[in-house]
Amino acid sequence: MTSALVINETGGPEVLQWQDIELESPKAGEVRIKHTAAGLNYIDTYFRQGIFPLPNMPGILGAEGVGVITELGDGVSDLSVGDRVVYSAGFGSYCLERNILAEKLVKVPDDIDDITAAGCFSKGTTAEFLLLRAYPRDIQPGDYILVHAAAGGVGQILCQWANHLGANVIGTVGSEEKAEVARNHGCRDVINYSTEDFVERVSDITDGKGVCVVFDAVGKSTFEGSLDCLQPRGFLINFGTASGPPPKVDPTDLMHKGSVYVTRASLFHYNATPADLSASAEKLFAVIREGGVKVNVNQTYPLQDAAQAHQDLADRKLIGSTVLIP
Ligand SMILES: NC(=O)c1ccc[n+]([C@@H]2O[C@H](COP(=O)([O-])OP(=O)(O)OC[C@H]3O[C@@H](n4cnc5c(N)ncnc54)[C@H](OP(=O)(O)O)[C@@H]3O)[C@@H](O)[C@H]2O)c1
Repeated sequence: MTSALVINETGGPEVLQWQDIELESPKAGEVRIKHTAAGLNYIDTYFRQGIFPLPNMPGILGAEGVGVITELGDGVSDLSVGDRVVYSAGFGSYCLERNILAEKLVKVPDDIDDITAAGCFSKGTTAEFLLLRAYPRDIQPGDYILVHAAAGGVGQILCQWANHLGANVIGTVGSEEKAEVARNHGCRDVINYSTEDFVERVSDITDGKGVCVVFDAVGKSTFEGSLDCLQPRGFLINFGTASGPPPKVDPTDLMHKGSVYVTRASLFHYNATPADLSASAEKLFAVIREGGVKVNVNQTYPLQDAAQAHQDLADRKLIGSTVLIP
């Protein structure tokens, strides 16, 4: 027996209910983890609302967890009881203990504490795949790029990493408080898209040339403007829908906008194999060690108060990463 925040139906933050649940022994290939931290991620709100379906109902939210292995299932040979591990696996981390496939886990390096690991793993491996793999060119020093929601969890890491690679990062934010944060986390120019026309501002900043890539997880409210910020043959990498789903794309429009490219990219496809996952994690831990990315866990909540954290995320009150503590 253990305890978890269970949802019995999709809906608002109030559907999160603290309950006792049964937990069997880990099956072959699985391990049992005792959680020490769970990262809060925007995707948790998509599963809560039913925008992405959970495989089972009642279900447990939580894309990201950190903890200690307490039991090994048959056939697990590369991990040991007592190992500190982290994962980003869609759902299931809002609980005290769980079983999970060993191949989804990465050992947390000794120089990274549990709260930092929970604050950076999902968001940082997302930044890695977006910058280094979904964008198919190498970022060149001086390249202009645009990152929406630059003061958010993924945004802060992405902007710092791109800045570390030499890009001129333009970030958008929804408030003046967030503008200051974005400036301190890799953005050379910051646009408050609640009060300014970001397409005009990007054109001014780039002398009318536009940016070579836009990273857009805001979706509905930014998507069309993002296309208008691109250089000819530029890339719009949509990776989320915080404001709602973007409009359908007509390929002919992409030609008229300068033969630009659009993708909707997901971490689950880019880190689907253990080899990709481990390479992505290594690059993230390396850039943190080099000082290229500083992880800003700006808010922590007790796990049992995750409903309040969800409300604050939806209300755009959160800055940087947020971690839930069991
Ligand atoms: N594709 C993938 O594999 C992948 C992986 C991880 C995350 N993501 C996506 O990346 C995005 C960021 O995730 P995160 O966990 O780091 O969250 P976050 O950026 O900390 O929070 C979302 C931010 O979106 C902005 N936003 C704009 N319009 C909004 C609206 N109508 N309602 C709520 N927020 C709005 C807000 O910033 P402002 O107030 O500054 O506008 C808000 O702080 C999410 O869309 C998430 O789904 C995708």
